[in-house]
Amino acid sequence: MFRIRENEIADALTTADIWRIMLREIPPIAAEYFVGGADELTTLKANVLAFQQTMLAPPGAIKHKELDTTTNVFGQDLSLPFFVAPVGSLRTLWPKADAVASQVAGEFGTAMALSTLSQTPMESVAEASNGPKWFQLYLCGGVETAKRGIKRARDAGFSALLLTIDTAVSGNRIVHERMKPMDAVSSLFSGPRKLKRALHRVKLGPQVLPRTGWLWRHWRDGGLLPFCNIINEHGEPMPYAGIGQQLAASAVTWSDLPWIKEAWGDQPLIVKGVHCAEDALRAEELGATGVIFSNHGGRQLGRAIPSLQIVAEAMPKLRAANSKLDCAMDGGIRSGLDVLIGLSYGLKAVGLGRVTAGGLGAGGHLGLRRAFELIKEDLLRSMELLGVQNISEIQEQGEKLRRQSMVLGTEHIPPFSF
Ligand SMILES: Cc1cc2nc3c(=O)[nH]c(=O)nc-3n(C[C@H](O)[C@H](O)[C@H](O)COP(=O)(O)O)c2cc1C
Repeated sequence: MFRIRENEIADALTTADIWRIMLREIPPIAAEYFVGGADELTTLKANVLAFQQTMLAPPGAIKHKELDTTTNVFGQDLSLPFFVAPVGSLRTLWPKADAVASQVAGEFGTAMALSTLSQTPMESVAEASNGPKWFQLYLCGGVETAKRGIKRARDAGFSALLLTIDTAVSGNRIVHERMKPMDAVSSLFSGPRKLKRALHRVKLGPQVLPRTGWLWRHWRDGGLLPFCNIINEHGEPMPYAGIGQQLAASAVTWSDLPWIKEAWGDQPLIVKGVHCAEDALRAEELGATGVIFSNHGGRQLGRAIPSLQIVAEAMPKLRAANSKLDCAMDGGIRSGLDVLIGLSYGLKAVGLGRVTAGGLGAGGHLGLRRAFELIKEDLLRSMELLGVQNISEIQEQGEKLRRQSMVLGTEHIPPFSF
């Protein structure tokens, strides 16, 4: 009924263009969850800047007949070395967004990681793609609830479990808090500050009403749905509110790894949110087959070091320790060149968080397809320009290709967009 911005999406030349379309489609009260980060956004911005400040020295006069972007990571062959990182609440951007993301990932021959805090049943996310599906685990609701989720994910055909370890509490997302998003949806017939909340809702009119496409689709899709992949002992899904307290009450510690591994079985167990080599090695000792270096996209500790710095520090130490871990990263990846730079440290793949959210918010399947196309095209172009033929060459030649830039300051770098 409401048109998707087809032409704008087709004309997009960067993922930042897609992001801007998303911002026009989605009201700030809903978009801020995806836009924002923790504290003063230092880590969120540093994640992006670390890539932008990396310079490369391409060897010349090389032209390969064919390029090969395939990789094998977490027990799966992927056609491309980037995958959908787990992002909660995607369905507030687009109807059944998690299933749409899964479909697009499958179409590109890559993997979809589904967040525990998702609002699309994991079975329909699994059915949407023939490609690999991975399930990200939070222990919301406690051990028994998590065990139910793990079994359900296994039965639905998810082939790797991503255990997130950087959420002892939720980060301090100041701008998001100031917007009082829950006041916009809570019942006006109960609870405190009824008049204030009613006024808050009236004030939201000017940002929501012009975005009729989003409003219509969100309403048709059922509005703010509960977390249907977290089911309590009475068979009820976790309501949308109360995530922060839930995370704090059920934080993961190292002592949880053995029972999680046992409940999950033989398939790969991946630890996500690793900030140093020491934690990666500890995860390996406890039976993990892989790690994702990540600071949660700058949404947790507001001054965590950028993801790329984590990788640059950790990878040589893992090599020196003869680690057998499959390593990936996420945080700040906005282009195919960023993907290549990440891989150049020896990683097997990288995850896309906000790029996925931006694509879905801009236009569901169409928006995400375009975002993925842009990243794929840019990766291929960058491989050609750097004279590398496949992912192993990127990994092997990384150190030779990367250079410390002589340029001081950030004037040569575009302003931060997302
Ligand atoms: C809105 C949002 C929600 C997220 N939700 C989850 C989540 O539920 N579980 C998780 O492990 N990581 C979550 N993440 C972190 C992502 O998996 C990933 O680490 C991060 O987005 C990477 O940074 P990028 O957005 O710069 O790509 C979330 C990230 C964003 C932006």
